[in-house]
Amino acid sequence: MEEFHVRVARPGDAARIARLDVDTWRATYAGILTNSFLVALSAPRRELGWATVIEREPRDVRVATDAQGTVIGFGSCGRSRDRAEFAGEVFTLYIGQDWQNLGIGRQLLLSLFERLVDQGCGSAIIWVLRDNPNRYFYQRLGGQEVRRKKFPVGGSQVEATGYAWRDLPRFLETTARAKDTPET
Ligand SMILES: CC(C)(COP(=O)(O)OP(=O)(O)OC[C@H]1O[C@@H](n2cnc3c(N)ncnc32)[C@H](O)[C@@H]1OP(=O)(O)O)[C@@H](O)C(=O)NCCC(=O)NCCS
Repeated sequence: MEEFHVRVARPGDAARIARLDVDTWRATYAGILTNSFLVALSAPRRELGWATVIEREPRDVRVATDAQGTVIGFGSCGRSRDRAEFAGEVFTLYIGQDWQNLGIGRQLLLSLFERLVDQGCGSAIIWVLRDNPNRYFYQRLGGQEVRRKKFPVGGSQVEATGYAWRDLPRFLETTARAKDTPET
């Protein structure tokens, strides 16, 4: 089992998060978003964005690091954008390609959920592009498909699916309990 560790982001993580962000977007959304949009993505521009988010509230950004301390995945959360039915929202969750399917996404998602509960959000939604097969990851982690909408990305309208967790404290408690139960 590969060793990894999840922690709150620091200002010095912005450059590495931005690099991963651009690389995973290109790998994940090739054939889903336009080539011109993906080619135009810029790590230095995204770095500025991430530095701002981390500076504003570092606890809203979580990173996974390898044994050497290199950031290999990241995620971010906060109060939901529409604030209607679900109080919290996970805005991003990306694991570097070489590190996928090792349990890091699950660990990061749980860390983001804990952060949301800490700031009083009892429920959460995550929007995923409909054409992204990774959306089944959220289903696997107990999310329920609750909404659909179109939103603009790179000059075109894309279909997205909203996955929701209606009771985050209960979900975290059940998950912790399941982890403590040895497999037979
Ligand atoms: C989707 C993503 C976040 C999942 O993280 P991960 O570290 O690869 O996944 P994990 O190893 O934590 O998987 C947890 C469980 O989900 C399952 N799973 C992972 N990816 C899956 C997928 N695409 N479809 C269905 N199940 C999936 C795993 O098999 C595992 O199941 P288990 O309970 O039997 O162990 C990650 O692969 C990723 O960043 N992908 C590219 C970018 C992306 O699409 N991000 C989401 C955009 S909103």
